[in-house]
Amino acid sequence: MKNAFSSAVLVGAVAVSATPYGPLNKWGSGGGGSQPSASSGASSTASSWNSGSTAHPVGYGQTPFKFPLSNGFPDVDNATLRGIEETAQGTLPNGALPTAFQNPAGTTTIFELIAFNELFEVAFFSSLIYNITNNVEGFGIGSDVLKDYTLLALNAVLAQEELHNLGANGILAAAGQEIITPCEYVFPTAKFDDAIAFARTFTDVVLSTLQAGQAGLAAGGDDEFLTLLGAVQGQEGEQNGFYRDLLNLIPSAAPFLTLGAPQFAFSTLNQNVVVNGTCSGPGNDLLFKSIPIFGVLTIATDPSKIILADTNLSFSVETPSSASDVSAWSVAFLNQQNVPVISKVTNVKVDNGVATFDAWFPAGTNIMAALTISAVVQGDASKLTSAAEVAAATIFGPGLIEIN
Ligand SMILES: *[C@@H]1O[C@H](CO)[C@@H](O)[C@H](O)[C@H]1NC(C)=O
Ligand SMILES: *[C@@H]1O[C@H](CO)[C@@H](O)[C@H](O)[C@H]1NC(C)=O
Ligand SMILES: *[C@@H]1O[C@H](CO)[C@@H](O)[C@H](O)[C@H]1NC(C)=O
Ligand SMILES: *[C@@H]1O[C@H](CO)[C@@H](O)[C@H](O)[C@H]1NC(C)=O
Repeated sequence: MKNAFSSAVLVGAVAVSATPYGPLNKWGSGGGGSQPSASSGASSTASSWNSGSTAHPVGYGQTPFKFPLSNGFPDVDNATLRGIEETAQGTLPNGALPTAFQNPAGTTTIFELIAFNELFEVAFFSSLIYNITNNVEGFGIGSDVLKDYTLLALNAVLAQEELHNLGANGILAAAGQEIITPCEYVFPTAKFDDAIAFARTFTDVVLSTLQAGQAGLAAGGDDEFLTLLGAVQGQEGEQNGFYRDLLNLIPSAAPFLTLGAPQFAFSTLNQNVVVNGTCSGPGNDLLFKSIPIFGVLTIATDPSKIILADTNLSFSVETPSSASDVSAWSVAFLNQQNVPVISKVTNVKVDNGVATFDAWFPAGTNIMAALTISAVVQGDASKLTSAAEVAAATIFGPGLIEIN
């Protein structure tokens, strides 16, 4: 099956662009460049994901995606749940749920963020499946066999994500906490290839965040959920192997996947896909009070130029700060399980409320493949030794970089 998804097949498919998996250039302000084709032997490719200039955007000219789904999700009766479970190839965990958390504030935030993210994923995969099924321009797959196989895989993913959401909300409800209800969503993708590349990146962000969730559960004494999060991580990793395979990348990205922080996941969602102001209800109100949303950090370097080599990257942010204030900032890079790389900003220019600057990104020296989370930090950055400390010092971010 693997090689059946060569770019040749996709290029030959109905209405799929002739540029195989452009590096998400729609999302970067650099806007350009195409990824070297797999057959060129180039192994260093990058994509960065950021929405451009506004933090609470977005739109992409779309009518926002709204719940419920046609099956009623997120409100499902028993028969519908059974159907979702059959498509997902398994049931919600059927053991008794705890009626209280040891660490109510922290553990509630963790499960609310998971439920919040899973609702976005359900929206995204629903839209993607609709687009492929209906041969929407840019999403048609010309081979019936490949189209059926892709839809079979994605329909399982959709059902599995629905269960992840129902599971997280079920845990919250059993513990007497507020559940998360849907927002409205938009998607920065107008082609199959870009949608799969985007799925790969947001799944990497999820994988970086679930690790932080496990650390939070353990620190708060709610250890009984650690295995559940481990089970979800493995599941999301299986998904990502499929997306990477479609993108002609080797299935397993790196020996140790990148550790992130909840602030980066929440900022990613709110800066790029959640329609500002559409998240209502007590659960969302609490979540928005519990996790900050950072300012948007735009990676100005052309994503196709970001390879596994040491380089200066260019960034921009909207800020009222002066050039001398900006000069005191650093950029932190989180990759795999390594201590943060911290680089002072250089080449600072401030014009009309937009600051541009560079930072040294030693991707080659440190073999920074897979997801790198970049963030602008203030204060004494030399003291930042963990992802959590970086997140606590962040003012703009994340700038998401994917290499190989
Ligand atoms: C749905 O299933 C739950 C759990 O098995 C059960 O308690 C409930 O009575 C069922 N509801 C209906 C309407 O059958
Ligand atoms: C589905 O297609 C529409 C129309 O092109 C597009 O706006 C939307 O982003 C697509 N959905 C996904 C998940 O890419
Ligand atoms: C978007 O949400 C933020 C809070 O997250 C708020 O400060 C801002 O005013 C909102 N913008 C719009 C246009 O609604
Ligand atoms: C990176 O930027 C710094 C500061 O402007 C500069 O001194 C250095 O030469 C640059 N390095 C490369 C490889 O361009």
